[in-house]
Amino acid sequence: MSAQREEINRLTASDIAARKGREPLVCLTAYTAPIAEILDETCDVILVGDSVGMVLHGLPNTVGVTLEMMILHGQAVMRGARRAMVVIDMPFGSYEAGPETAYANAVRVLKETGAQGVKLESGPVVAETIAYLVRRGIPVMGHVGLRPQSALVEGGFRAKGREPEERMKVLAEAEAAADAGAFAVVVEGVAEGLARQITERLKVPTIGIGASSGCDGQILVTDDMLGLFEWTPRFVRRYADLKTEIGDAVRAYAEDVRARRFPALAETYFAKTGN
Ligand code: KIV
Repeated sequence: MSAQREEINRLTASDIAARKGREPLVCLTAYTAPIAEILDETCDVILVGDSVGMVLHGLPNTVGVTLEMMILHGQAVMRGARRAMVVIDMPFGSYEAGPETAYANAVRVLKETGAQGVKLESGPVVAETIAYLVRRGIPVMGHVGLRPQSALVEGGFRAKGREPEERMKVLAEAEAAADAGAFAVVVEGVAEGLARQITERLKVPTIGIGASSGCDGQILVTDDMLGLFEWTPRFVRRYADLKTEIGDAVRAYAEDVRARRFPALAETYFAKTGN
């Protein structure tokens, strides 16, 4: 018996890697099916970021995010996206212990969501793990510079690479991730000169967030650029003011309910017999 299947042609890790030095990559985060559906028309990569912990679950940082949360939101995003490449963040604690644990968890993420790749915050010890995963068929996106999962040891979120010594460290981490086989590397919170230097050195695309226009692509947390939060980092440009719009809509609804203007006749069901 053959079931009829709708063809879905998604961008792959090789498509994204091949964009190096060509048209800039457009990337945003999504955690739900309806937002993924909207982004899918325009974005090359949709990242199910572990920022979901802070953005949707109200956590103070990304350390508390679990593999189960990433899988659940990854499944939702995959139901909404049909064209973009969907990449899922490996959360804190799911890959640092060693390549074998990372492999088992990454396989779980890919099998249970159907996504096309995973992202690892790639500090000095993670390059070996990236190589292990890539050799076993798992597309990996690296993430260097400001690595939010290190917030506890770093004492918060801090831009990286402003001092020469740190600059060399971030550059080395980016090169290690690319040499290990990452198909793209997110570069977060670094000064422009360093972002350009990393972009020139790597053969794979760099995707910047708070890392200047010197990268091969850009990513933002969608909820930040839609203006859902009062405070955002200074590198965020707000393309909408949804917090105000949602507040206005909720106040208008409340006024209508209190004045018994909602629901009106057009919004009411009536029995066919007329009562
Ligand atoms: O978790 C996330 O949303 C991210 C992006 C901001 C790069 O890692």
